[in-house]
Amino acid sequence: MNYVEKFFSLEDKVAIITGGGGILGSEIAKGLGLAGAEVIIGDIKKYKDVSENLKNIGIKIEGEYLDVFDKNKIEEVAKKIVDKYGKIDILVNAAGGNIKEATTSSELSFFDLPLSALEKVVALNLFGGAILPCQVFGKYMVKNENGGSIINISSMNAFRPLTRIPGYSAAKAAVSNFTQWLAVHFAMEYNKKLRVNAIAPGFFLTEQNRYLLLDEKGNLTERGKSIILHTPMGRFGNPEDLIGVCIFLASDASIFITGTVIPIDGGFNAYSGV
Ligand SMILES: NC(=O)c1ccc[n+]([C@@H]2O[C@H](COP(=O)([O-])OP(=O)(O)OC[C@H]3O[C@@H](n4cnc5c(N)ncnc54)[C@H](O)[C@@H]3O)[C@@H](O)[C@H]2O)c1
Repeated sequence: MNYVEKFFSLEDKVAIITGGGGILGSEIAKGLGLAGAEVIIGDIKKYKDVSENLKNIGIKIEGEYLDVFDKNKIEEVAKKIVDKYGKIDILVNAAGGNIKEATTSSELSFFDLPLSALEKVVALNLFGGAILPCQVFGKYMVKNENGGSIINISSMNAFRPLTRIPGYSAAKAAVSNFTQWLAVHFAMEYNKKLRVNAIAPGFFLTEQNRYLLLDEKGNLTERGKSIILHTPMGRFGNPEDLIGVCIFLASDASIFITGTVIPIDGGFNAYSGV
């Protein structure tokens, strides 16, 4: 192993990625796999297609049906992984997203946002998207003598709320807060080597936000234009832009880093607009 690999290699590490069938989760799965990890992706959709495709490029990967709201199912997957590999080293919580019904628009005012839609978004991003998998996989991870790494996915709107998406903003702010809370809790109560961090992607064009950023003709909406104007690097993110940071957080390169939320945003969060 060369000097750089000593820090960044994920050889012999076992990673579970919830929401691994999604656009960002599958790209992270590919990145961790190419860095050497055994990868298990858990999702309610596309887990078979994504794992087959990644297997074809030489990644050691399995796809499992996993609903992040179903604690028994998460436990079943966790047990299956530990029975096979003896441990879990890395958990990436990539299930999450916003929904149209929880988004204000000319047709739907803040006053009329249905509670059920707001609850759905908070539940998906905070409970299923972070807390429940951390409870179940975390119970195994605290027993790992080599420690490990949990990576949650927060968002730009956790730092400063974005217009139109109050439920999603609140949920991601809570994910950042929970990341710090759990980093302290696990290190102080269970395992000094188990780290918990989050990434906060800026704007990546995916299914969940396409309707906000592009019109029917594929041109930028006013919101899309405003985002590009407020991004010093002048573009949306590409899913592969997340990989380096995820390998860094998953590997021994970040061995003394816990409780952080790292923006991957082309400078959006740093820019005041002036
Ligand atoms: N796309 C962006 O610009 C952006 C920006 C910041 C944060 N994020 C966050 O990144 C994460 C990944 O988002 P994405 O853009 O890849 O979206 P995506 O919709 O492509 O992926 C989300 C995945 O979560 C899965 N999922 C939904 N409900 C689930 C459940 N109950 N159990 C298991 N899996 C479930 C979906 O099937 C999907 O595969 C989300 O947390 C999202 O909020 C995205």
